[in-house]
Amino acid sequence: MYIPFARKYRPRFFREVVGQEVPVRVLKNAVKEDRVSHAYLFAGPRGVGKTTLARILAKALNCLNPADGEPCGECENCREIERGSFPDLVEMDAASNRGIDDIRALKEAVSYTPIKGKTKVYIIDEAHMLTKEAFNALLKTLEEPPPRTVFILCTTEYEKIIPTILSRCQRIMFSRISEEKIVEYLKMICGKENIEFTEEALRMIASASEGCMRDAASLLDQASLAGGDRVTEEVVEEFLGIISRSKVREFMKLLLESEVDEAVRFLRDLYNRGYNLNKFWEVLEEEVRNAVLFKSLREPGRVLDEPEVYSEFEGYPLEALLYIENVITRGKLEARARPPLRAYELAVVKTLIVKEIVPISRILETGPKTGEVREDPEERIKALVSPIARKAIESAQKRIENGKTVYEIEEDTYRTVREELERVARSVPEVEFRVLKKKPPPGKDTTSLF
Ligand SMILES: Nc1ncnc2c1ncn2[C@@H]1O[C@H](COP(=O)(O)OP(=O)(O)OP(=O)(O)O)[C@@H](O)[C@H]1O
Ligand SMILES: [Mg+2]
Ligand SMILES: [Zn+2]
Repeated sequence: MYIPFARKYRPRFFREVVGQEVPVRVLKNAVKEDRVSHAYLFAGPRGVGKTTLARILAKALNCLNPADGEPCGECENCREIERGSFPDLVEMDAASNRGIDDIRALKEAVSYTPIKGKTKVYIIDEAHMLTKEAFNALLKTLEEPPPRTVFILCTTEYEKIIPTILSRCQRIMFSRISEEKIVEYLKMICGKENIEFTEEALRMIASASEGCMRDAASLLDQASLAGGDRVTEEVVEEFLGIISRSKVREFMKLLLESEVDEAVRFLRDLYNRGYNLNKFWEVLEEEVRNAVLFKSLREPGRVLDEPEVYSEFEGYPLEALLYIENVITRGKLEARARPPLRAYELAVVKTLIVKEIVPISRILETGPKTGEVREDPEERIKALVSPIARKAIESAQKRIENGKTVYEIEEDTYRTVREELERVARSVPEVEFRVLKKKPPPGKDTTSLF
């Protein structure tokens, strides 16, 4: 029979649990020092090891040959617990046993001492789903806990546990598992299952699981089935609908290069293949932010996981990245009010002007130094602008006014290059740009846009 990875590789010992260093240490020490509490509350996100640790604790408390707080995993009790047939371990799902009757039954059962082991363990999963009455009944039990009994309440919604219960339990907080640790765990599984993989593919899976180990294991499961025991970026992308960060960064480059046609095609392609565009946009937002941090921090390695990958953005001005960041954030807001594809396409179009963004520092660098012979200002400004703006400058009507060169540029052209020219005019004081208004066609009254 096929056992899914998430079940097959459930840790059996404290030492096998990934992450969760604090819970593991606290519980193991409690066992070692014989100071186990009567009631625990395990709180944290789903799929991060709550039930797993509850079972390990049950094993450690009932193991016939424990060593250093760890269960042996081989004695009769350990094996029965692993098989789910140990009479002194009761697992109850509060989501499906919500009523007071269930708790009453539980209370009755509690009055019996352990049948086989040393300690009776009750694991109450999804404890936040218990009804108020059930909570109250449980409270009584927790107030006067029967000897040799441990309750473990597990929950993903800590805030929903009432204070009276909270105050009677020792709280153990579980956290999401880091991407790095998930990747390590997936590698371990691949090793045991003889699955070939690429590092990036496992990274993609880890990132998509958002700290949930169960999701990571089952995504790997699906990917290895789909890929015939070869887990590559392509397989993960095609079968799991997860897009790689390197692909997101390719898209980012299209935006930085103002390759609007390509970028729109890229988006449509994702859309047609059924990807979740909002999710894609979120990753894009993150990657742009990472690139911005990479460019602005002196030691990006202290903040970013993989600073090297952002060196490909070294050549782009920070201003351009910040502009893109802004466009992306707005796109996200707009995607709430209209179909995401439209909102994102519009955002892409707004990046048309990115290529024209020249950092101020570069403008200042090209300015004349003291004692230098002044060069022709026209050559200077032409070196600072995009080809379109250069053409506009060349075809402008020029005259000198108060020692300044004034360029009069035809209205339609001016509109397309306005921002760029205004910026140049600010940094090169010898020039000025003006609109050359079109003569209104006879009989029509037109007002200027500017
Ligand atoms: N910390 C971990 N180390 C290794 N594997 C883990 C860890 N957490 C979860 N897993 C994997 O995920 C599966 C599910 O974990 P578990 O049942 O302990 O999650 P949970 O926290 O109880 O989640 P839920 O709140 O959904 O019940 C395990 O069988 C195991 O494969
Ligand atoms: Mg659980
Ligand atoms: Zn044992």
